[in-house]
Amino acid sequence: MALPPNFLDELRARTPMPGLVGRRVRLSKSGRNWKGLCPFHNEKSPSFYVYDDSFHCFGCGAHGDAFAFIMRAEGGGFMEAVERLAGEAGLDIPKPTPEAAARERRAKDLYGVLQAAEAAYARRLRTPEGAEGLAYLQRRGLTEETIRHFGLGWSGAGRGALLAELRAEGIEQAQLIEAGLMQEREGFNGEGARVVDLFFNRVMFPIRDRRGRTISFGGRILGDGQPKYVNGPETVLFSKRRNLYGLDLAREGVFRGATLLVAEGYMDVIALHQAGFTGAVAPLGTALTEDQLQALWQVSPEPVLCLDGDAAGQRAAARTAELAMPLLAPERSLRFITLPGGEDPDTLIRQKGPRGFQTLLDAAQPLAEAIFGLIVGGRLPEAPEARAALRNRLAGIAQTIPDKALASEFRSAFFNRFFELSRKPGKRAAPRHPRPVVDPEGIQAERARIILAICIHQPEILRDAQEPLALLDLPDGPARQVRDALLAWIEGAARLDSGELIAHLALCGIAPAADWVLRASGLPMEARPGAQPKEALDAFWQMFGFLRGEAELAEDARAAQMAFAATNDPAAQIRLIRLTEALDALRRGESDEADAV
Ligand code: UTP
Ligand code: MN
Repeated sequence: MALPPNFLDELRARTPMPGLVGRRVRLSKSGRNWKGLCPFHNEKSPSFYVYDDSFHCFGCGAHGDAFAFIMRAEGGGFMEAVERLAGEAGLDIPKPTPEAAARERRAKDLYGVLQAAEAAYARRLRTPEGAEGLAYLQRRGLTEETIRHFGLGWSGAGRGALLAELRAEGIEQAQLIEAGLMQEREGFNGEGARVVDLFFNRVMFPIRDRRGRTISFGGRILGDGQPKYVNGPETVLFSKRRNLYGLDLAREGVFRGATLLVAEGYMDVIALHQAGFTGAVAPLGTALTEDQLQALWQVSPEPVLCLDGDAAGQRAAARTAELAMPLLAPERSLRFITLPGGEDPDTLIRQKGPRGFQTLLDAAQPLAEAIFGLIVGGRLPEAPEARAALRNRLAGIAQTIPDKALASEFRSAFFNRFFELSRKPGKRAAPRHPRPVVDPEGIQAERARIILAICIHQPEILRDAQEPLALLDLPDGPARQVRDALLAWIEGAARLDSGELIAHLALCGIAPAADWVLRASGLPMEARPGAQPKEALDAFWQMFGFLRGEAELAEDARAAQMAFAATNDPAAQIRLIRLTEALDALRRGESDEADAV
């Protein structure tokens, strides 16, 4: 039943949270709010905060309004909670308004529309026009049973064919638009706007919500065209940041004992299920979001993330780990497995079979270990200052976990590994030149300042250099703050404009760090406003080389070489050229420096 929103608001207003919660949890005053021991997880020190109209647990992440509290505390659904609170507040529950009822009916209808579309696509896969699609799926090793289990289909050739078919079931164009299956397109060559199919000539993957209702589709092209996958747009029913592909089936799988696994794509999920890993899900073409993490934790306390072994996979791992830290609790963690370079679960299972994948799964890394690997790598730096900085950084990361006990577990795990590594005699690459006996930390900080100033004045550079910049091990403090803010900004920036970037840095509250970077004294011309873009670009790569260090740079260049050979991608070629130049500059520069000292 749909309730008018103003009724719910009034009910909330009449149900002060501290009173409601206070019946179950002993609360004490904390500033303007209240806090107590969380009723939803075990804890010894209070991290459960109660505000006027909501609650939030910094330990387990439980949060919501009065209705959510009753639902969680007493089980039961939304309407039961509403009835309970309305009774206590002495309010009558109003009859649903016609508009609210209509809205609900439309949403309900929309599920029906998507279901009808799924059935039509599935039928089409078995007609001559779908033969190529069916053969494609079979070629990729999918069994008949798998194809049916996932409801795979064939879109048809577009041009309104789906609408023509579904009209017989009383479905109209407007409904297909609302369902995200058709779209209004601007007319061109003088034509008026027209409505076109979103999916044509594609194999169709129904996307279902956690209850198994189809809410959208992904469509894969046969062979190598672009884009490889088209995903349905955001609709009333579908949000790609909130849903996970395969979650309905994975809940069932996990219930029967499977491990909850997060892969990257549609075909990975399907291949994993077919191989018996029935807890597999994937995000829908984006990095994992907080909503998705929460959805995963509702199914299992410790989902396992499958990552590519390449640089992008490592960055994704770092991003996810960072996202997860403030949400961790004893019963909410993650593990990681890293696939050998270039493989995804689908290809790995095809090559090595389910056993091959199981071997990797058995060796899944706990979160603390994975983070340590991402931050420290396989060996420690030699300089005591650098080691101390690293330890501080690890301690800082542990501190972002709200649960005190867990945070201290992470701290000791980090430090144990740290000391293990420091006892191991490292195989260190011999420096080509003896290190100059000047304050190396100061020089690195100055170089970091220069490279960041270049990026701030010429953000265009980041288009190709975002990833290299992310790789740099910059000194802690302002340099790192500015770098991280830069990278966050570029993810969402509509245009790469220096003025907007500087404003953004101020907004993030790191104006002092930005000022430190941009202070003119000591900056070369290339790192100042108005520098020639070409010269700034060259200077960027030169500084990058200095900061990255010779061994790493040579490694990067080798990886770029292989990427270019494998893909022939022009962007990979540019990267390769840049890295090679930086390496040359570094070798020249280092010998100059060594000579100078
Ligand atoms: P992948 O390119 O790794 O796809 O993209 P895949 O699942 O291995 O597909 P196959 O094996 O080539 O068929 C991973 C996911 O990223 C999203 C899709 O969700 C895909 O499953 N993606 C990829 C897109 O949304 N659009 C694209 O063009 C490509
Ligand atoms: Mn694949």
